[in-house]
Amino acid sequence: MSEKKSGADVPATHAPIDSATLSRRNFLQMVGVTGAATGLGLPKAGHAVPLAATAEIKDADPGKLSLKLKVNGSNQTLRVDPRTTLLDALRDHLQLTGSKKGCDHGQCGACTVHVNGRRVNACLSLAAMHEGDEITTIEGLGKPGSLHPMQQAFLQHDGYQCGYCTSGQIMSATALLHEPCGSANADVKEAMSGNICRCGAYSNIVAAIQQVRKA
Ligand code: FES
Ligand code: FES
Repeated sequence: MSEKKSGADVPATHAPIDSATLSRRNFLQMVGVTGAATGLGLPKAGHAVPLAATAEIKDADPGKLSLKLKVNGSNQTLRVDPRTTLLDALRDHLQLTGSKKGCDHGQCGACTVHVNGRRVNACLSLAAMHEGDEITTIEGLGKPGSLHPMQQAFLQHDGYQCGYCTSGQIMSATALLHEPCGSANADVKEAMSGNICRCGAYSNIVAAIQQVRKA
């Protein structure tokens, strides 16, 4: 016959908790220490922290690369993850947020910038591919008080509504001035077909572009 253990025989760690004597403070201390260690991902007592992990925390960017770009006429040196797109380098590292992220998949044109004078979807291009390149964003095209003629024409013709696509539209439109393109509105629409406007300001955009082309 098995002998039934008395309460005194039970190991201390498994001793039943007497709710009458357990204070709120004691309870929180018990739960808090365990919970904090788990929630913060801290090692449990008795588990050593791997040396490699502490080294990683100290030197967090060994895989980054240095990159030199000329942006809007200024030389810039960036330290970026090799996977950084040109758009993220401009927006997140240089705070040039005029270039917009619409789809991040090359489908809307909101991120259009000029690279060595040609229009490029910055979301589809890795920053690392542009070492030494000259990048122009909407911030470098004109300034308040001395706008580019295309910016003036967009204002004059109401070539925007919400404005989200507008910097991409204007960057594409200014690049178009140096591209082979027929004179008809249909030719301009075709050449601008990579720039989507969800507000549907297309006819005003075409009118603005045609005004600058004729001038
Ligand atoms: S954000 Fe680049 S094409 Fe849409
Ligand atoms: S003006 Fe709103 S998306 Fe073009």
